[in-house]
Amino acid sequence: MSGDSRVPSGAGEPLEAILLVGGRGTRLRPLTISIPKPLLPTAGVPFLAHQLARAASCGVTRVVLATSYRSQMFAECFGDGSSFGLELDYVHEEEPLGTGGGIRNAASRLRSGPDDPVVVLNGDILSGHDLPAQLDMHRKADAAVTLHLVEVTDPARFGCVPTDDNQRVTAFLEKTPNPVTNRINAGCYVYTRRAIDEIPPGRVVSVERETFPALIESGQVVMGYVDNAYWLDVGTPEAFVRGSCDLVLGRLASPVVPTPGESLILPGATVYAGATLTGGTVVGAGALIGRDSTVEGSVLFDGATIGSGARIRGSVIGRDASVGNNTVLDGVVIGDEAHVGARNELRGGLRVWPGIELDPLSIRFSTDE
Ligand code: GDD
Ligand code: MG
Repeated sequence: MSGDSRVPSGAGEPLEAILLVGGRGTRLRPLTISIPKPLLPTAGVPFLAHQLARAASCGVTRVVLATSYRSQMFAECFGDGSSFGLELDYVHEEEPLGTGGGIRNAASRLRSGPDDPVVVLNGDILSGHDLPAQLDMHRKADAAVTLHLVEVTDPARFGCVPTDDNQRVTAFLEKTPNPVTNRINAGCYVYTRRAIDEIPPGRVVSVERETFPALIESGQVVMGYVDNAYWLDVGTPEAFVRGSCDLVLGRLASPVVPTPGESLILPGATVYAGATLTGGTVVGAGALIGRDSTVEGSVLFDGATIGSGARIRGSVIGRDASVGNNTVLDGVVIGDEAHVGARNELRGGLRVWPGIELDPLSIRFSTDE
């Protein structure tokens, strides 16, 4: 379960991981125009900080980040990884190589031997699952790959993964319109190093559409470790907001979230009298919330400004963006440095692009109103 104090299996042994962070995060636009999805501020820190800290607590000692889109930002953000007690290395794909190509490319930096387990993580997942137990299953089954599987209500959006009675994977059906089970690929794999080296180098490969189906077809052992602890792919705005709020509320414990609570107010933020912050809302550094505003289950990036009497729910307000007095936002994304004037009402998935001014003449921000 989440936030426990399990002793990692093989504690003290080196354990390497590859973190896939090369995607463009298009479903999270416009937030991902200036910053890659894995670095979006989430419960007060870059998203990946949660995954890195969690990996370290589960016994991972070294992580190779497989980057492509806005590569240089990752090293700037995490450096050598010592603040997580990890050793970090970075590889870059000039052209994105897909999930399998990215894993194969990162393998050039692994130190593990051919029989060693290597953890592979999608870089947009919050998970409280028991990684040491997944590693145990992998070792006992002497598998080529062991996938974390989770049960969801909407399996068509994911990789559908049926297994037999012994948890051996019998097929891998990526984003099929007719899922045969509600168990899906949760985006955390244990690979035997040798199986990574068998991925063809130097070209685009999808593990989901090519590697896993081929491994199963050729009779190699692919196992499914089912664990229904907290799990979320933060790849859409709604999921991103939910993930950040869940971390603040403590629904998923993260080593890098201080004490859980209804809201997280970062240093240098100002919250005026009568404003209420609930549902795991984050108020970024230097942000400002005007008098009598209510902000529920939302993420306000650094420097965001909310006027007085505004009502914000389930929304993301970008860096240095502003929202005028008495405006209502519900389930929307306001891009960096965008401005929404007073007395507007925006709902239902609407996205305002960075720098856009909606109704600029009516912005009369005042905290005394
Ligand atoms: N290095 C590298 N290169 N990384 C990549 C590339 C690439 O070309 N393409 C995608 N990635 C990374 C993304 O940054 C992300 O962390 C991860 O691979 C998965 O990509 P998504 O774009 O988020 O895939 P998805 O959510 O549609 O589907 C995947 O995750 C689901 C679970 O959340 C699949 O693995 C599904 O089978 C799975 O169910
Ligand atoms: Mg995803």
